[in-house]
Amino acid sequence: MAEDTLPNQITLQGWLQNSRGNNHVRFLQIRTEGRILQVVAEKEILGEDLFQSIKSLGQETSLIISGPKVENPKAPFGWEVHLRKIEIVGASEQYPITPKEHGPDFLHNHRHLWLRSKRQLAILKIRSELSFAIREYFREFDYVLIDTPILTGSVGESAGTLFSTEYFDLGTAYLAQTGQLYLETAAFAHSKVYCFGPTFRAEKSKTRRHLTEFWMLEAETAFCSNEENIRFQDHFVRTVVARTLDRCESELTLLERNPQSIRKCLETPFPIIDYSEAIPLLQSKGESISWGEDINAERENILTAHFQSAVFVTNYPKAIKAFYMKENPKDTRTVLCADLLAPEGVGEIIGGSEREENYEKIIHRLEEEGLPVGAYDWYLDLRKYGSVPHSGFGMGLERVIAWIAGLEHVRECIPFPRMIYRLHP
Ligand code: 4AD
Ligand code: MG
Repeated sequence: MAEDTLPNQITLQGWLQNSRGNNHVRFLQIRTEGRILQVVAEKEILGEDLFQSIKSLGQETSLIISGPKVENPKAPFGWEVHLRKIEIVGASEQYPITPKEHGPDFLHNHRHLWLRSKRQLAILKIRSELSFAIREYFREFDYVLIDTPILTGSVGESAGTLFSTEYFDLGTAYLAQTGQLYLETAAFAHSKVYCFGPTFRAEKSKTRRHLTEFWMLEAETAFCSNEENIRFQDHFVRTVVARTLDRCESELTLLERNPQSIRKCLETPFPIIDYSEAIPLLQSKGESISWGEDINAERENILTAHFQSAVFVTNYPKAIKAFYMKENPKDTRTVLCADLLAPEGVGEIIGGSEREENYEKIIHRLEEEGLPVGAYDWYLDLRKYGSVPHSGFGMGLERVIAWIAGLEHVRECIPFPRMIYRLHP
């Protein structure tokens, strides 16, 4: 969008999102820089021929339009452009996504075009703002960005959800499920570090919250206990979500998302409940769950509904958590960890823990999990050379976007979702 030399004269470069009107006046919705602006074309001013050619333009024709910028309180941004000059850059005929309703499968098959639709513009703008707020936060708190590898030789989370590929003469490489183990090594160099990038899980589940490729923010801090880790996560999540809500008011309005309830739950620290207290609470609500079982999505929902907020659940049983979590000295059946559960069916948005820093204990845990101890020699070196208490966490970006935007499924929260049944486009 460029201001021309004539006063109030403006030039828009964009695409024809939609056109309506009658035989005398057309209202063109022009998408430029991700915003949709109103352009008015009048037959009386443009003449019959030009008016008719504008009327017959196909949806998504690319155009350069200029004319005076005129105030109009009813137009999307309080102003519109009155068309004087138009240049067609690229024609578009029979654009597949029309203003009528389409099913999700059709839309996902046309994801490369669907990105241009209003709701999708809003969702990916929210994603961009949230990502920026995350980077901004870590800079404000003097964390160093460490880019961890995507191809790795050691299993980071559970062996059950690994993507693998042949790696020259060196055997099997895996796509990273987490940057954590590498981040821990960097925390011993820089004390406070984070990474932010794509992670991969060969999840066979077709739920509303699972992708096979998702973005994770991970942070790792040396000389940091589980409690300090939880306090940091609490402040981090409340800050970046609030900033995103502030910066995306028009996007939330377009998505018909009233941010009141989410803002309310950001006002004070999130409640914290111990796993061993969450189980009797769930039982008291009629759930037949016993100590030792994982808390599934439905039950996570029951907990967030109970607290009317996001909630931290701490100190899960060792047997259902990853090998690197530190044993809880007060109850050795459990580990010093916390999951942050978000309300409205979003569920776990963060998994974090204090890390086991004891050399013997962590070897024992690797063996228990049947993981090849030899592949972790570099990671175990941390426990040999100046081991310190340290903690960290990982937050799933798409789930937080789903929470902010009030979306049913994480698949709309990433430009090109990868799921068990989708690799195209
Ligand atoms: O709980 P997870 O598996 O934790 C880790 O990977 C740790 N290594 C993080 C750390 O401590 N550095 O995953 C962290 C978060 C989850 O809470 C969830 O928000 C998200 O990543 N996540 C997924 N999001 C979308 N699709 C999936 N398949 C996801 N799996 C995990
Ligand atoms: Mg987890």
